[in-house]
Amino acid sequence: MRSSEGLSLVETDENGVATAFRADVLQGLSEPQKAIPARWFYDDIGSELFEDITRLPEYYPTRAETEILSRHGEEFRQLIGEGRAVVEFGSGSSVKTPLLLDAIAPAAYVPLDIAGDFLRASAETLATKFPDLPVHPVEADFMREVALPAAAAHLPKLGFFPGSTIGNMVARTATDLLRTMRATLGEGSLLLIGMDLIKGPAVLEAAYDDAAGVTARFNLNLAERINRELDGTIPVDALRHVARWNDDFARIEMHLEASRDIAFDVAGRRFAMGEGETIHTENSHKFSRRSATLLLLAGGWTPRARWLDSEGRFSMILADATIPRSAP
Ligand code: TRP
Repeated sequence: MRSSEGLSLVETDENGVATAFRADVLQGLSEPQKAIPARWFYDDIGSELFEDITRLPEYYPTRAETEILSRHGEEFRQLIGEGRAVVEFGSGSSVKTPLLLDAIAPAAYVPLDIAGDFLRASAETLATKFPDLPVHPVEADFMREVALPAAAAHLPKLGFFPGSTIGNMVARTATDLLRTMRATLGEGSLLLIGMDLIKGPAVLEAAYDDAAGVTARFNLNLAERINRELDGTIPVDALRHVARWNDDFARIEMHLEASRDIAFDVAGRRFAMGEGETIHTENSHKFSRRSATLLLLAGGWTPRARWLDSEGRFSMILADATIPRSAP
């Protein structure tokens, strides 16, 4: 999920405005609980703010996952084995992917990302760090089945999906994605996936509402982007960033809350929000050991090993492609 500017996979109209962005925003603002899909966070400004989030003192997931990857390389190598094609769902980040590649000595690396420019840039960085590793970037929407390049298709595969990005989807979408990953990777594949854990609401809410206000700027940038790209007149100063723990659904929700009654236009249409009304902009589901297991099983993957960081905040799970069977 990255910058959408200039992407061949994002449809644009004659004004260069993402048609899909406008459609999603108009639809989302028309619903009783206003909601905008989180993928629209990631224009250039949003992508940069997101990088800043990963370095915040309150935002523990990136550090926790990096710790797991750097501490357990030996076990990864034993359980995963050398010579696989690593297929990463999303472009490799600067730190996490090299840790994995160093540990397991794969035969190929295949990053999948919808953002072509970002994909090529990070693929080049990786190719420089691993001069002997064949790198085959594929510009694709990994929510659909992807045909892997011939050079990797015949190798045994390891899917890599860090960052607890699976938690940004509701269970139904997450299950669809896990099943699609299974179809993309095929029989005999493994999946190494990051899943953040349920913990006290204070720690969680701070991670998504930092003292420096970076996550607030990230959330508010969505409203600013609407104003910039969709002829919007949203009074951004009347919106407040809210991150709250929803215990029923075990997720952090991010909202933009109106601090007074407001009315505004977007792409020629009029909308209103009463004081206290919100636009729902993101979910970040958190998991227990069993809820993680259940989600993976529902998506066609059986957990085989699990690692936590030293403070027990975050998990990485190694799963294998379950042979489908409907009998008990
Ligand atoms: N998947 C990560 C998480 O939920 C990263 C992330 C996605 C995120 N969207 C976010 C972090 C919005 C902060 C705000 O934590």
